[in-house]
Amino acid sequence: MDSSMERAEGKVLVEGNRLTYNRAIVMPILTDQTLEFISHSAEQTRRLGVRLGELLQPTDLICLSGDLGSGKTTLVQGIARGWGALDEATSPTFVIINQYRRADSARMYHLDAFRLSGSAEAEAMGIYELLDSDGPLVIEWPERIPGILPEERWWVQMQWVDESRRRLRIDAAGSRYIRLLRDFQKSAFGG
Ligand SMILES: Nc1ncnc2c1ncn2[C@@H]1O[C@H](COP(=O)(O)OP(=O)(O)OP(=O)(O)O)[C@@H](O)[C@H]1O
Ligand SMILES: [Mg+2]
Repeated sequence: MDSSMERAEGKVLVEGNRLTYNRAIVMPILTDQTLEFISHSAEQTRRLGVRLGELLQPTDLICLSGDLGSGKTTLVQGIARGWGALDEATSPTFVIINQYRRADSARMYHLDAFRLSGSAEAEAMGIYELLDSDGPLVIEWPERIPGILPEERWWVQMQWVDESRRRLRIDAAGSRYIRLLRDFQKSAFGG
């Protein structure tokens, strides 16, 4: 075997190990504040969302960042389902805010900031009331409204890998959100 073969084989082994095809889709947790993994289908993204939705508390803030079509609304469909929403989540691109109800009359809010011109417009439409509200808040395109979101939150970065795969990276800031990350990892991946 020449040395280039050896190198090539070594690479395959390392990659196989990292992607962990046979164990779970989860990649090693990077720190206690960060989790990164690949979802292999829209349905898998929804299922992961369900796991998160089941854990959400009334004041939780979940920011979903990522390009058009990276799967933010798909994830919210799962989150709303897991939280117990009576209605299916849809993209709020035109109405800006969706509100989902639960049988116990709790509310969950879903803001799409894509069409907002910036933080001033978010303030005018009542972002502070939403942040102060009695239900979990999920925001698509949070980077459009810089400077007004609390520092303590989950920040999910979604990235297109190919037709059916998306990379998700979760960054948790604040003790509530670090705990949420640990609970989510256990619930979704059994880790
Ligand atoms: N692994 C995956 N996870 C999520 N969505 C996926 C995946 N694979 C394919 N898809 C498809 O990608 C599309 C994602 O659309 P979605 O509306 O969720 O994106 P979005 O990030 O909300 O876009 P926008 O920025 O326009 O709001 C859907 O058609 C979904 O079926
Ligand atoms: Mg969307």
